[in-house]
Amino acid sequence: MSLVYVSDHPLVRHKVGLLRDESTPCRIFRELVRELSVLLFAEATRTLAMEPIDVRTPLADCRSEQLAEPVGIVPILRAGLGMADAMHDLLPSAVVWHLGLYRDHATHQPIVYYSKLPESPNITTAFIVDPMLATGGSATAAVRILKDWGVKRVIFIALIAAPEGVAVLSQEHPDLPIYLAAIDSHLDENSYIVPGLGDAGDRQFGTR
Ligand code: PRP
Ligand code: URA
Repeated sequence: MSLVYVSDHPLVRHKVGLLRDESTPCRIFRELVRELSVLLFAEATRTLAMEPIDVRTPLADCRSEQLAEPVGIVPILRAGLGMADAMHDLLPSAVVWHLGLYRDHATHQPIVYYSKLPESPNITTAFIVDPMLATGGSATAAVRILKDWGVKRVIFIALIAAPEGVAVLSQEHPDLPIYLAAIDSHLDENSYIVPGLGDAGDRQFGTR
């Protein structure tokens, strides 16, 4: 059973085009990352547990609902930061745990340089967020870290993926739901996504 969901929402498709455009300036690029993250987060949180509550409106008592489980948002540094901020604004009760991973330039293998998770998990569902799923190395390693930590349910959200990365991630973690805005054509010889959008970290933070 495929757990890969690619949004076909017109707003997502429209904004992905703007995000890809090399002439999109850094500030607008960051805004687009935020907007797309909110749209995908709304989809990816569909299955969160709910519980009934009683509230009083200005007119009457009524039955309402609230989220019934502690949620974590886990950005992969650094490019996941812009996504996590937007999602945290939408769901302020979530906790945010940062994972620092970078791709070694020569081997393209993920190197973990920051992880300060407490001994046991204080969340039941973790949303790992990173704009790019290229070879799948960083995402696969991040999911492994959270599973080993003991989180019951892990969900991965990215903006753009390569088919190679989707295949690796789903093969390593067949139980993992993957939410995406687009799946592109292929990886180039430097393991960049084609057509992609370039380097998501550099484009958000103006570092190139
Ligand atoms: C990018 C991206 C992912 C990773 C994806 O980060 O944000 O974390 O590459 O590639 P993969 O699927 O082949 O592992 P990068 O290593 O460039 O680090 P940065 O966010 O600090 O720029
Ligand atoms: N990381 C990026 O930022 N872009 C890619 O195309 C691949 C990895």
